[in-house]
Amino acid sequence: MFPSLLLFLLSATTTWTPVSALPADNLPPRDPMITPPPTPTAVIIQQRAAVSEWDSYVGSIVSGLGTSVSSYIASGVPQFFQDLPTGTAVEKSLGISDSDLAAKPTQVLNLPAYGNWTDAGWNVFVHGNVYKVPDISEAKLDDLANIFLIDTDIHDLPPSSQAQARNMTASIFVVQQKDQNVTISFTNDVETGGQTGTVNAPGGAQEIRVQDPTTDQGDFAGWLKLADTTGQNGTPLIAGNETDKIQSLNMHAKGTDSGNATAYLVPPTGITIISDIDDILRVTKIWNPKEGLLNSFARPFTPWMNMPSHYAHWAQTVPNLHFHYLTTTPEQVTRNYMEFIFANYPLGSFDTRPLNFSDVSATLSIRKHLLDLVFETFPQRKFVLIGDTTNSDVMKAYPQLAKDHPGQVQCIWLRNTTATDATFRFPYDTKGFEGIDQSRYMFFVVPDDLTGLDVSKGECYNQTVRQNVTFGMQASLFGSSSGVAPLKERSSTWVALLVALGAAMVLS
Ligand SMILES: *[C@@H]1O[C@H](CO)[C@@H](O)[C@H](O)[C@H]1NC(C)=O
Ligand SMILES: *[C@@H]1O[C@H](CO)[C@@H](O)[C@H](O)[C@H]1NC(C)=O
Ligand SMILES: *[C@@H]1O[C@H](CO)[C@@H](O)[C@H](O)[C@H]1NC(C)=O
Ligand SMILES: *[C@@H]1O[C@H](CO)[C@@H](O)[C@H](O)[C@H]1NC(C)=O
Ligand SMILES: *[C@@H]1O[C@H](CO)[C@@H](O)[C@H](O)[C@H]1NC(C)=O
Ligand SMILES: *[C@@H]1O[C@H](CO)[C@@H](O)[C@H](O)[C@H]1NC(C)=O
Ligand SMILES: *[C@@H]1O[C@H](CO)[C@@H](O)[C@H](O)[C@H]1NC(C)=O
Ligand SMILES: *[C@@H]1O[C@H](CO)[C@@H](O)[C@H](O)[C@H]1NC(C)=O
Ligand SMILES: *[C@@H]1O[C@H](CO)[C@@H](O)[C@H](O)[C@H]1NC(C)=O
Repeated sequence: MFPSLLLFLLSATTTWTPVSALPADNLPPRDPMITPPPTPTAVIIQQRAAVSEWDSYVGSIVSGLGTSVSSYIASGVPQFFQDLPTGTAVEKSLGISDSDLAAKPTQVLNLPAYGNWTDAGWNVFVHGNVYKVPDISEAKLDDLANIFLIDTDIHDLPPSSQAQARNMTASIFVVQQKDQNVTISFTNDVETGGQTGTVNAPGGAQEIRVQDPTTDQGDFAGWLKLADTTGQNGTPLIAGNETDKIQSLNMHAKGTDSGNATAYLVPPTGITIISDIDDILRVTKIWNPKEGLLNSFARPFTPWMNMPSHYAHWAQTVPNLHFHYLTTTPEQVTRNYMEFIFANYPLGSFDTRPLNFSDVSATLSIRKHLLDLVFETFPQRKFVLIGDTTNSDVMKAYPQLAKDHPGQVQCIWLRNTTATDATFRFPYDTKGFEGIDQSRYMFFVVPDDLTGLDVSKGECYNQTVRQNVTFGMQASLFGSSSGVAPLKERSSTWVALLVALGAAMVLS
């Protein structure tokens, strides 16, 4: 079934997205190797379209693709990495033999974890995936990569971008391993510990097997209770009720060389920053399929303006701050996300989209599911939630958490993506913010709007940043006052992506 999906996607993308149909401001840069930093320019986008026009626009595009698709698209900007093939589907579609695969080393993606302090000691939530990387010829990888690069042939990219596109493609076409036992080895030998408020755990070295074997999609997840083993000089782990500092331990998946990550033992009280990644920490342009895919697949990841310096400043000035990065990008493609974050932003724990959350409704519910787990795990900590207006799930989940846990959400900061990028013209809904005190949240335009706000004192709102939030759908799709190409010229790219999404759903 999968090869026909590929053919379908190839024909869909080549037939329906002529380059000439793209508006000028969406054309790829000549040398797409480096994404230029966006220049913030204030644009005024008029609200010309009623929501019903939007509905019928979406409806006309997706009719025939099934109701699940239209409700998914209608609820916000679609995500690229929907319904990626897994396990035996990859094996069969690429004609990989079991014996070839058996000879390949087992690899583990182990996500940086958080742990909480309970009456029974420290508990760490480990999660990740077990897989093998099959041999795929470069020619085949190029064909597969081209599916993701709308209107762009991999051979037209600079060599470093080609390498990244092949690497990302190879990361998707891995064969996940089910029914595997995963044993995590903890060692108290973290090298740097340089981050303010994070210390190397003095003890805690041990091996623990994750209770459940991997799922059919190769995922593992589980809480591991750390025994209070002692380190050098007989020192045990510091009790969570006796320190404000975050203790870090190295983790390593036994029997492989690839499952290395850090576990953060986070005390019950303090402040946790929960941050989305795309279009807030890095330039993705997720609302523009072609640009978004190039930025995700081929170009080096680029920080969004000077956001790194603000995160660094908080890490240095807010005592014992815990950073948690939460992206709903599926886990296969998140190694690059982690490398990028840890090169540009403070170290911290990580959540990505597990593979069992792949159908439409699960994709839309995963963020809330992951956020709820963090809140349940740290019922006394305070949270700063950071994201941008392009994600409908963020727009819903963040204000909902402020309502469900009134004392716990310290600040909500949302980048108003429309204000700096005229090409983001999808509607987004601010209704969730109705009734939340303006001093608790801010829609901001550039990172410097966050300057000088002391989150430890609950300062979330910079009075100089104009807030004119009407609680409801902010529909900017049809406006064109700033020279943005009108809808007709833009729709063909969307049709291709929507058809691709639809095909993936229908055929998988
Ligand atoms: C910390 O918690 C442990 C276990 O619940 C308890 O025995 C100990 O007395 C507590 N220490 C402090 C300082 O509250
Ligand atoms: C992609 O590159 C990273 C290093 O940047 C490497 O760890 C990973 O194994 C590569 N993935 C594949 C599937 O080749
Ligand atoms: C996993 O561990 C359990 C319990 O020790 C054992 O019964 C099972 O055979 C193991 N599975 C594999 C694939 O090694
Ligand atoms: C992972 O950790 C183990 C144990 O500390 C170490 O031997 C190995 O070299 C590490 N692997 C990588 C790729 O860093
Ligand atoms: C996915 O698996 C996790 C446990 O690993 C479970 O909590 C969650 O409910 C599952 N989600 C779906 C949509 O099946
Ligand atoms: C630790 O986390 C677990 C899992 O989220 C949660 O059930 C438990 O209540 C937390 N313990 C404490 C003391 O907060
Ligand atoms: C975002 O910016 C646009 C353009 O400046 C403005 O019209 C809109 O009201 C802003 N939205 C919010 C929620 O602040
Ligand atoms: C508020 O935003 C302005 C404009 O970005 C910035 O110059 C200023 O430093 C920010 N902070 C405060 C406390 O005014
Ligand atoms: C807020 O937006 C409304 C509707 O666009 C407009 O009429 C009003 O003048 C704006 N208020 C401020 C203070 O900018």
